Amino acid sequence: MRRKLIAGNWKMNKTPDETVALINELIPLVKGAECDVAVCVPSVCLHAARAALEGSGIWLGAQNMHWEASGAYTGEVSAGMIKAVGAECVILGHSERRQYFGETDETVNRRTHATVTAGITPIVCVGELKDQRLNGYTNAVVTYQTAIALNGFSADEVRALVIAYEPVWAIGTGLVATDEQANETIGVIRAAVRAAFGDAADEMRILYGGSMNAANAAGLLRQPEIDGGLIGGASLKVHDFASIVRAAG
Ligand code: PGA
Repeated sequence: MRRKLIAGNWKMNKTPDETVALINELIPLVKGAECDVAVCVPSVCLHAARAALEGSGIWLGAQNMHWEASGAYTGEVSAGMIKAVGAECVILGHSERRQYFGETDETVNRRTHATVTAGITPIVCVGELKDQRLNGYTNAVVTYQTAIALNGFSADEVRALVIAYEPVWAIGTGLVATDEQANETIGVIRAAVRAAFGDAADEMRILYGGSMNAANAAGLLRQPEIDGGLIGGASLKVHDFASIVRAAG
């Protein structure tokens, strides 16, 4: 049985003080959760969030990082840096990073390797564009993205990684994949992991993300392939986020 993970992706929202306030509201609402819970906050809020989360059991996550350990990469942070400030996980290859900042499957792979070296759990995002779904390429796209992201890992390393299936057309749009679409495509991703890494696929958690909210979470999370959610908009509304956490229990 894979334990579910509900991760909030706060994107470019909240100052450090606002982060602390949101976390303080959230902690009592998700106390005793039956699933793992994470909040992925802006880099400048990691330090404040770490202190606010102490003793809560909620994981702290970042939203991106560079693949090198250090060097002349103005504006970037490394896996070692976010680990040092207390992050336990990091979102990699989010479609907004791919769309606006030129990230590719190859650099997602390099970043993923850097997280394993640093001892942080990556949440690697894959997902098709609307045109790709309409033209029947969804399975090919997610299989390819998954294969490249996991290139060069051992089965033992892969077990502990997390993938988030986020259809790009569903992110921030209010359009949500149906329970069946999400379940089926996550099954395709798991099959790609199984083809390369065997049984590790049964342990790896694969989340759904894209307009998941308090109203649709229960249906999605009941699907056998869906091991949790990566939640954008609804993660900034504590009561909605807490309902999603409860739906995973
Ligand atoms: P959304 O974002 O829940 O606002 O659609 C999900 C994500 O981008 O991870």
